[in-house]
Amino acid sequence: PRLVVTNREGATSEISVDDGLTVMEAIRDNGFDELLALCGGCCSCATCHIHVDPAFADKLPKMSEDEDDLLESSDHRAPTSRLSCQIPLTADLDGLHVTIAPED
Ligand code: FES
Repeated sequence: PRLVVTNREGATSEISVDDGLTVMEAIRDNGFDELLALCGGCCSCATCHIHVDPAFADKLPKMSEDEDDLLESSDHRAPTSRLSCQIPLTADLDGLHVTIAPED
C-alpha cells in the first residue's frame, strides 16, 4: 500500500510500503528521523504519535486502552491522534495520509 506522510515542517511525500508493516515502521524505515519510536513498537513510549486523516478514521484498527492512556499524556492529542506503531498497513488503508505530531 501507499502511505502519504506530512512531516513537522509541513512537507508531504508518498512512500510505498510492504503489506503488514506498521505505519511507524514505514515512516522510520523511510528516513523520517522526527518519529523517534523509542520503544520500537511496544506501545509504551508515545513518541510515534501521528494524526490520521479523518477520511480513514473508520478503517483504522480500534484503539486499545494502553494506546488511549499513552496518547492522553501528550499535549498534542486530537480526535485524529493515534500511535503509528499500532496501525498495520493493509490494502484497504492504501493512500492513508498521516501527519507526524508535534514534539511533546
Ligand atoms: Fe513506542 Fe509506538 S513506538 S508507542
